Amino acid sequence: MIIVNTTDSLEKTLATVRSAGNKRIGLVPTMGALHAGHVSLVEQSVRENDYTVVSVFVNPTQFNNPVDLEKYPRDLDKDADLLRISGCDLIFAPSKETIYTEEELQKPFEFDFGGLDQVMEGKFRPGHFNGVVQIVSKLFSLVKPQRAYFGEKDFQQLSIIHRMTDLMGFDIQIVDCPIVREASGLAMSSRNERLTPEQRKIAAGISKVLFECRNFVPSYSPEKLKQWVENEINQIQGLELEYFEIANTKTLQPAINWEKPTVGCIAVYCGEVRLIDNIRCS
Ligand code: PAF
Repeated sequence: MIIVNTTDSLEKTLATVRSAGNKRIGLVPTMGALHAGHVSLVEQSVRENDYTVVSVFVNPTQFNNPVDLEKYPRDLDKDADLLRISGCDLIFAPSKETIYTEEELQKPFEFDFGGLDQVMEGKFRPGHFNGVVQIVSKLFSLVKPQRAYFGEKDFQQLSIIHRMTDLMGFDIQIVDCPIVREASGLAMSSRNERLTPEQRKIAAGISKVLFECRNFVPSYSPEKLKQWVENEINQIQGLELEYFEIANTKTLQPAINWEKPTVGCIAVYCGEVRLIDNIRCS
């Protein structure tokens, strides 16, 4: 496994890899602070491709909260140890200056989200998805992978990446990977590292409520189920609900019945740590 920091060395290395006949390149974009969820994406890419690239870059343009950006956990040595044993071939770990010009850092990236950014995360984290599309499209152009792997924990991000791939005409297969959970049910996230052991136990209540809510489908309407989840989460001391929405999996608009596939998406604060999770409802 090698670690490269510049776009030049990345492109040269990948040209050599391709000329040696390794045609299938898999890309796993990450912001580091890797956990078993990331490892499962990397392992899937290793199984399905000849060469796996993992990018480790805490992308400043997708953070709307400067404190969140500053506190985002970073440990490249630890990430590299984990990636080496997962079968990754190349880590791309660029600096902010390598990726962005000063102008790009100042001016919001523009993209036609077709309304996918108007709900849930988009509503509470203005500009977040512009930054995500900006970095992921740059990585796609640099690496030119055959496949790119993303976790379903970030359900809305995944929908937006599918749209971006189609709209920008990237010939890349987007592979949706299932949420990986801790034994308690808590969805794996780099942010879990910032929870105290006590908060980790409290945070497990989020998935417990999500799993339980499915028992009321289809007898409750989406509106009634939303209220039930809100009420259950509000009763857990130490959690503060930001939103829970039951959305159509394609349009991400609020579901009014159970006819089409739906997903329940939640964002909750546990202390200062913002956690997201989701569950298929119908
Ligand atoms: O999901 C993430 O970790 C990030 O949003 C991504 C896709 C790596 C872009 O920075």
